[in-house]
Amino acid sequence: MYTEKVMDHFQNPRNVGEIENASGTGTVGNAKCGDIMRIYLDIDDNQVIRDVKFKTFGCGAAVATSSMATEMVKGKTVQEAMEVTNKAVMEALDGLPPVKVHCSLLAEEAIHAALWDYAEKNGITIEGLEKPKSDISEHDEDEEY
Ligand code: FES
Repeated sequence: MYTEKVMDHFQNPRNVGEIENASGTGTVGNAKCGDIMRIYLDIDDNQVIRDVKFKTFGCGAAVATSSMATEMVKGKTVQEAMEVTNKAVMEALDGLPPVKVHCSLLAEEAIHAALWDYAEKNGITIEGLEKPKSDISEHDEDEEY
């Protein structure tokens, strides 16, 4: 059911933890399952992501996608980090079962929320970044739950 890469990142997740005095933090909840994800970003003066950590109450798929997503944004500029979409993360993991796609959204949304926090604190604009929602879903926003 899960690819080797998913199992590897689930069993040995990278970048678990927190960053004190982070440049930006983002916390999001998944409307579909109620799970929560928090991302911490340490960003230098050149807007490069020096370090990133995550904590989650999410399932194994959320752990694996967050582990991969944090690896993918580390060392990138905040603008480049916008290209690390949940689709890109899923591809890097060789895919996820369809019922687990919503889990992968937690990482992307939490990274965006942390970037938003950083941008607000520093008075900068990150192209394409929208104000984070507190709850996320893989469905259209106007869908009812
Ligand atoms: Fe909630 Fe996967 S079931 S994050």
